Amino acid sequence: MSFSRKVVLTIAGNPLVTKFVSKYGLKLGASRFVAGETLDEAVDIVKKLNEEGLVVTLDLLGESVTTEEEARQATDAIIEIFDAIAKNGVNSNVSVKLTQLGLDISYDFCLENMRRIAAKAKEKGNFVRIDMEDSPRVQQTIDLFKTLVQEYGKEHVGLVIQSYLYRSESDVKELGEMGVNLRIVKGAYKEPKDVAFPDKKDVDENYLKLVAMHLKNGCYTAIATHDENIINWTKRFVKENNIPDDLYEFQMLYGVRNGLQRQLVAEGYKVRVYTPFGKDWYPYFTRRIAERPANALFVLKSFFKD
Ligand code: FDA
Repeated sequence: MSFSRKVVLTIAGNPLVTKFVSKYGLKLGASRFVAGETLDEAVDIVKKLNEEGLVVTLDLLGESVTTEEEARQATDAIIEIFDAIAKNGVNSNVSVKLTQLGLDISYDFCLENMRRIAAKAKEKGNFVRIDMEDSPRVQQTIDLFKTLVQEYGKEHVGLVIQSYLYRSESDVKELGEMGVNLRIVKGAYKEPKDVAFPDKKDVDENYLKLVAMHLKNGCYTAIATHDENIINWTKRFVKENNIPDDLYEFQMLYGVRNGLQRQLVAEGYKVRVYTPFGKDWYPYFTRRIAERPANALFVLKSFFKD
């Protein structure tokens, strides 16, 4: 992890900074990365993105929930998203984080919540993807995912794998044998050297390896990155290996590389925009700033414009 990224994540953890930004943040410019605080606001944004040829994955912000009550509320709210997608006829699926659904309280409790969500996704002919969080939670996340795939089918449940983890190559191999749908990302958390590649070069190299493995196994792959080298490499790879268009998609975050998102659509590629919304946007927002400290300047500029 770069020095600047560590500094941003450390400053963001300071209680005074948390309090200030949580109060003024959406106004400060977090709205560039967050599609509002309510489901209605988010659905309006999905409609606009769909009109531009982009498909969406909606994410109700929230993580590290500590009470069963909060986890149940989050589960109910996520189930409502599937209803809203169907009711409005928009093209979106849903992404979730297991710590929002009680993983830190109990594995079985979280599995029950996820079962309700996966059942709803299946009922609506839709799809839920489990985001990957920090390394201590990876094994449980994969175990829970495998159970859900067996119960609800790989058409309705998918997972994320992070290329910065040493273990991911063997995970992709194993998951490839199950034929599941994976989103490959670089990884967004502060991880120690004994579990994750410390050098970006290795993370990037591993990324290509994982995408190639999963596609060659004939499994659906979401290439989720803003890295143009990786995107261009993927375009060449799918062409050279005759990978069918319906076996992959590009994914990017709402508000990041907007021009590139639209350019790929114009070139005929499928592009899904990860679109988070909700009141608990602070941890998500700080990870986006940490990835690119120049984003902090954008945020400060919007503050002074007001
Ligand atoms: P990298 O960080 O190397 O950036 C490449 C280029 O992209 C930069 O040079 C810059 O131009 C641009 N860029 C990157 N981030 C930017 C930003 N915030 N603002 C502006 N420009 C930016 N992580 C995780 O651990 N678990 C998960 O479940 C997910 N889920 C997920 C879904 C989707 C759809 C995406 C796109 C990403 C994630 N991530 C994630 C986050 C991921 O791990 C990673 O932190 C970010 O995507 C940034 O890495 P890049 O691959 O974009 O490359």
